[in-house]
Amino acid sequence: MSDKEIKILAIESSCDETAAAIVVNGREVRSNIISTQIPLHTLYGGVVPEIASRKHTERINQVVTAALEEAGETLDSIDAVAVTYGPGLVGALLVGVAEAKAIAFAKKLPLVGVHHIEGHISANYIENPELEPPFLCLVVSGGHTHLVRVKDYGDYEILGRTVDDAAGEAFDKVARAIGLGYPGGPKIEQKALEGDANAIPFPKAKVADHPYDFSFSGLKSAVLNYINGAKMKGESVNEADIAASFQKAVVDALVDHAMLAIDEFGSDKFAIAGGVASNGAFREAMRKACEKKGVKFYHPSPILCTDNAAMIGAAAYYDYMGGKRDGWDLNAVPNLKLGER
Ligand code: KG4
Ligand code: ZN
Repeated sequence: MSDKEIKILAIESSCDETAAAIVVNGREVRSNIISTQIPLHTLYGGVVPEIASRKHTERINQVVTAALEEAGETLDSIDAVAVTYGPGLVGALLVGVAEAKAIAFAKKLPLVGVHHIEGHISANYIENPELEPPFLCLVVSGGHTHLVRVKDYGDYEILGRTVDDAAGEAFDKVARAIGLGYPGGPKIEQKALEGDANAIPFPKAKVADHPYDFSFSGLKSAVLNYINGAKMKGESVNEADIAASFQKAVVDALVDHAMLAIDEFGSDKFAIAGGVASNGAFREAMRKACEKKGVKFYHPSPILCTDNAAMIGAAAYYDYMGGKRDGWDLNAVPNLKLGER
């Protein structure tokens, strides 16, 4: 790799965060601006795609300007522009892609399109300078639950994924069912602190013949059935016990899958990423399970677990160094698969 500093302006707008960052050589974050739309969407109990696109359009220029200013850079001092081009909401992705293309075209800069999941995985590089592939990574967010073998920079093998709801989605749906509101993950985590994780034996779903796949919709239904059953009998439910028992069922499934992969692939490094990776119970369970096996455990800080552009800049650096460049025909790909170009 070169000694020259490569400064990347990265942009992320795939869901409900408008974000821009300046990242140097893939690991050093000079600025990381995130304008969240969560309070707007909370009103509707989830992300409304049309509102998301409109807000991205209103905010993107300010967010990019703030990222440049905070880093002490200008559009003339950066080396490349990176942007998430999928997967995500098409109208939301398009705002970031159009912004990145406009800047790159006007300033004659290289353009690098980044896969959102690759970004989440790469968030681990930022605070762990020693972390290098190969390693295993569990990406758990509102839209994804992927168990990934990171063979090299930009070289991924998906071992398993959810066959129905994503882990974060299950948190959001159960939170709604017990009246905690959106986004559900942090609220369930908080509520679970007051509850008994062993109070209700919710099922830890497995997918027959696919040991690395996940299924969370059965667990979500079990929680809804438990609540409805109690209602029909005129009994009250203990929300804290539901939150704690549900969270334990999700965490147990995630940790079991992770340990299975460690055993099969003999990996000595395991990382987690995505919004759910900021869950304290999940981190603690993973830390303990990895420690038992002598495996080094990595997780990003909460601000790098949630959607952000610093992680996109980290991923983009390795793509850039590997020669990846996109043309002016770069488009938003809402269902982009990991490893596709
Ligand atoms: O990565 P992210 O910000 O956006 C996506 O790419 O989906 O993840 C958001 C998801 C939401 O479903 C949210 O409820 C969940 O991550 N989440 C959590 C926690 N914080 C966020 N889930 C469990 N515990 C948390 N502390
Ligand atoms: Zn995400």
